[in-house]
Amino acid sequence: MDNSMFLGIDLGTSAVKVLLIDDDEQVRAEASCPVAEGVLEPPHSEQQPAQWIRSIETALDEIAATRPGAFGAVQAIGLSGHMHGAVLVDKQGEVLRPCIMWDDGRSVAQCKTLTRKADFTGIGGNLVMAGFTAPKLLWVAENEPEIFGKIHKVLLPKDYVRYWLTGEYWAEMSDASGTLWLDVAARRWSERLLGACGLTTDHMARLVEGTEATGTLLPHLANRWGFPKTTIVAGGAGDNAASACGMGVVADGASISLGTSGVVFAPTKTFAPQTGQAVHAFCHAAPGTWHQMGVILSAASCLEWLADLFGHSVADLLSALPHTVTRPATVQFQPHLTGVRTPYNNPLATASFLFLNSDTTKSDLVQATLEGVAFALRDCTAALASAGTRIETAYTVGGGARSEAWLQIISNVTGIELALPENSHNGAAIGAARLAMAAAHGGDISYITRKVKTLRSVAPEAGMHAAYEDAYHSYRAQYKGQTEIATPS
Ligand code: XUL
Repeated sequence: MDNSMFLGIDLGTSAVKVLLIDDDEQVRAEASCPVAEGVLEPPHSEQQPAQWIRSIETALDEIAATRPGAFGAVQAIGLSGHMHGAVLVDKQGEVLRPCIMWDDGRSVAQCKTLTRKADFTGIGGNLVMAGFTAPKLLWVAENEPEIFGKIHKVLLPKDYVRYWLTGEYWAEMSDASGTLWLDVAARRWSERLLGACGLTTDHMARLVEGTEATGTLLPHLANRWGFPKTTIVAGGAGDNAASACGMGVVADGASISLGTSGVVFAPTKTFAPQTGQAVHAFCHAAPGTWHQMGVILSAASCLEWLADLFGHSVADLLSALPHTVTRPATVQFQPHLTGVRTPYNNPLATASFLFLNSDTTKSDLVQATLEGVAFALRDCTAALASAGTRIETAYTVGGGARSEAWLQIISNVTGIELALPENSHNGAAIGAARLAMAAAHGGDISYITRKVKTLRSVAPEAGMHAAYEDAYHSYRAQYKGQTEIATPS
């Protein structure tokens, strides 16, 4: 008899990843498939849920074709996905409009209305920010009333995938926190906060913890790929909490993610909000656990943007850097290509290069870009520190963590020692698979608290850390200056 197997499905913004592990956490099979990204102009960002399902089907087909019988011993499936998206379904479970994504900033006016209408910071412990789900629903109510009127359930992206897998509507705490409708301390939907958007708890899915079981895989899907008919689907987690579960960052520790967005993530012993600095204070994926996040909306995407402008690959662009960075760049970069959440909550913030002159080189621009994102991450660590969370070491994940130069710059700017986890390439999918293991074992959280091994660490260099102090303070002053110019009095 083969070992028991567990499947993690991570619905990413640009690709879906499917990962099959055994009960020793050895990866037995994996596949990923791109998701067609929307073509709307910022601040609009939408995706078609049907496309997510097609990408998951393609990834499962690929594993089934290359490893016949691979899914025969799967006990549980865990789900992870990009957070805050609004998938609206009618009574028949049909999707009513494309999903409004986490990086969609159209609902600035609705944020102001909701802030006036209900005590989101008091009950929810989070600022009403444009990327979150609640203001998006008010936007739909105001701009697409006929669609709003047909809403049966509002689902988060990974919970729509669950609906496809099980035919059941379930939500879980970590992702539900990012809707703004959760009473995060009490871990239940808030009628008052839902009411501010014209919704009730009937519009929401039942809540579970990430380590609990929800539905069972639908028979036609079990037959199609050869899963046991008893395969359960675990609650799972939003992508950041899932990624943390994959590294064992549940009761303690910290992580920094360098994906499209940049995230500083730290578990907290209790619910610990700090709305003044736009800290995200959310439930974690296990019962009685919470976490804080500082989130910037453009991290590795800044480098991709610059590489595109120069017509290079990111790797070619990085090769323009000096072998070792020995001083802060004279050029400065404000990395807010798509606005910023922590610490400013400003969806309208813009990016800029400052202090260019006729001697400025491509290398200066690349270094400034890496430093600008590092400064923004330091804003996040400072925001978390103001909420009582001091970080000395952090796992580093996401595509950006592949750049040695960037890791050293981030470590020097933040003063944090960065550890590269053994399973970083598996991202949130390994956390989703670990949550599946926990659910298959009656919610045993030891499957998600086990710390992953560190491959190597990058420590701050004292001299460079000191040199970056001035540069960081100038970065902060420039942000303030720009905002004052941009904000009409
Ligand atoms: C977190 C956030 C992003 C998305 C995309 O608040 O908006 O990290 O989850 O991955």
